[in-house]
Amino acid sequence: MASQQKPTGTLVITGGGGYVGGNIVRLALSKGYAVRLTARSDSSAQKAAALHPQYVNTPQLTTTVVPPFDFGGYADSGEVAQSYLRALEVPKAAGQRFLVGQGFRYQLAVDSARESIPELKYRLPVGRPGFVEPAYEIDGSKVEKVLGLEYKTLAETVRDTYSQLWQAKKTEGTA
Ligand SMILES: NC(=O)c1ccc[n+]([C@@H]2O[C@H](COP(=O)([O-])OP(=O)(O)OC[C@H]3O[C@@H](n4cnc5c(N)ncnc54)[C@H](OP(=O)(O)O)[C@@H]3O)[C@@H](O)[C@H]2O)c1
Repeated sequence: MASQQKPTGTLVITGGGGYVGGNIVRLALSKGYAVRLTARSDSSAQKAAALHPQYVNTPQLTTTVVPPFDFGGYADSGEVAQSYLRALEVPKAAGQRFLVGQGFRYQLAVDSARESIPELKYRLPVGRPGFVEPAYEIDGSKVEKVLGLEYKTLAETVRDTYSQLWQAKKTEGTA
């Protein structure tokens, strides 16, 4: 039977301020894991950490605030298709995992659409132009480094997507 090794590394635990999460954090700390708690606000991070007073302000217990936000990334379908085939074709991609995508914010997408397709300018909401909502970031750069893919910009993908949708509506006669 394999002997149990002393835990090493850091566990990221979401919902660590809750009933179940708090118990997982407690057990992980007692076994010697380092724990990084995520919470949705500073105050809930502090409350969550305070459940484990002997570890507060020690390197074994750290907190990170992840703002409430829905999915902050996107992938252009053409880039997904290219990556899929390149992962088969590029020898050094063997056995590796790839995240294909870049950061996304609805406001930046609608800004780009209003800017690049004048016909849509008065049909799309204005929102708060230029506002970048705080959120986590997506790092899909490994696809560029290993697979040699060059990402388009969000503005290019938005323009292509809206142009196709707009063309489809014109063809249907519903534009
Ligand atoms: N308690 C039980 O006996 C039991 C048994 C079986 C299954 N479960 C299931 O296990 C899960 C946790 O239960 P619990 O009793 O531990 O609940 P809880 O005490 O209410 O804790 C929920 C945790 O999830 C976090 N959270 C809620 N919505 C979130 C969101 N949208 N994004 C990020 N974090 C979010 C909360 O963070 P904030 O502190 O920021 O609000 C809180 O830390 C639930 O799905 C429950 O149905 C519970």
